[in-house]
Amino acid sequence: MPVPVLEIDDLRVTYRGSRGEIPAVRGVSLSLRPGDTLGVAGESGCGKSTVAAAVLRLLPPGTEVTGRVLLNGEDTLAMSFGRLRAVRWAGASIVFQGAMHSLNPVHRIARQVAEPLVLHEKLSRQAAEKRAVELLRQVGLPDWRARSYPHELSGGQRQRVMIAMALACAPDLIIADEATTALDVMIQAQVLRLLKGLVSERDIALVMISHDLSVLADTCERLAVMYAGRIVEQGPSREVFAAALHPYAQALSAAFPTVGDPAERRNPSGLAGDPPDPAALPGGCPFHPRCPVVMPECSTTAVRMRRAADGRHAACLRVEDQPAPAGHDEHRAHPAGQEST
Ligand SMILES: Nc1ncnc2c1ncn2[C@@H]1O[C@H](COP(=O)(O)OP(=O)(O)OP(=O)(O)O)[C@@H](O)[C@H]1O
Ligand code: SF4
Ligand SMILES: [Mg+2]
Repeated sequence: MPVPVLEIDDLRVTYRGSRGEIPAVRGVSLSLRPGDTLGVAGESGCGKSTVAAAVLRLLPPGTEVTGRVLLNGEDTLAMSFGRLRAVRWAGASIVFQGAMHSLNPVHRIARQVAEPLVLHEKLSRQAAEKRAVELLRQVGLPDWRARSYPHELSGGQRQRVMIAMALACAPDLIIADEATTALDVMIQAQVLRLLKGLVSERDIALVMISHDLSVLADTCERLAVMYAGRIVEQGPSREVFAAALHPYAQALSAAFPTVGDPAERRNPSGLAGDPPDPAALPGGCPFHPRCPVVMPECSTTAVRMRRAADGRHAACLRVEDQPAPAGHDEHRAHPAGQEST
């Protein structure tokens, strides 16, 4: 059994803002082996990007982080900054939304893609640029494009450059955080197909974050739905998308947003009410004020992840808890579970 590329165990992240403490992530656990693809969905503010940033310690100073984040068995929360810098390219790469705007306008594309190879793989500039041209070719950009400046490329082409950069040092894990959200539908589909192909070809583990469940169901094998800093449901993408167990995940899949619609991005579920304020969460099940099938006990009872009869998992009192079968690798089958308290 291969060592997990990424293993997150009871991750909790609390920001210290002007409004005091903000518990943005409240106990997330997940595990990915080489070649695994996990989609993470949930409405704005539920903690998706915070989980991504915590993996490589890209959080603001003063933020409290507890739990364990193992990258190829190594604890990133305990790493020195030097080690972390190396791991940020070779171990795991993150492509953020709008990352294409971070390209340097005064340097040609090939030079920018070559940069991490010079710094981290210690290649000569000439060898690194040659490799950069190959990488750009792999993401569908012809050789002559390598000599272009960022402003000469379309948004979709620039996003492909970011993917080429993420692939440059052959990482074991790629985290794509809304990496294609800003692109139009056709280009988005093209970039997603490309990413999916490269990931499976190289056995890279992929965490893809999006508010769009349909994109995730198309790209990822497994799906985790987050609400108020926790995963409330996870399972095979197609099953979660077609027949979610958790009422929040059901609402999300019933009314998945039109790609790129800013209004639906704010409230993709079409549910009444606003997403909860992480600094003032309701007691019991945090979804209870908005839940269409709420029961009296939901406001007072802490909900932990439950195992449904079909082996899927959801944090809802309506799911009848089933014991795991003997000899079952629960962590593997349940890469995204956590206890709620
Ligand atoms: N630097 C910060 N300081 C204080 N609070 C923060 C900071 N970054 C995020 N938050 C808060 O943490 C919570 C989770 O934010 P996060 O960015 O992880 O959400 P998200 O699920 O990625 O949302 P979106 O879909 O809008 O990208 C939100 O309530 C947000 O306001
Ligand atoms: S525990 Fe209750 S409030 Fe929470 S999702 Fe389930 S039914 Fe709704
Ligand atoms: Mg985000």
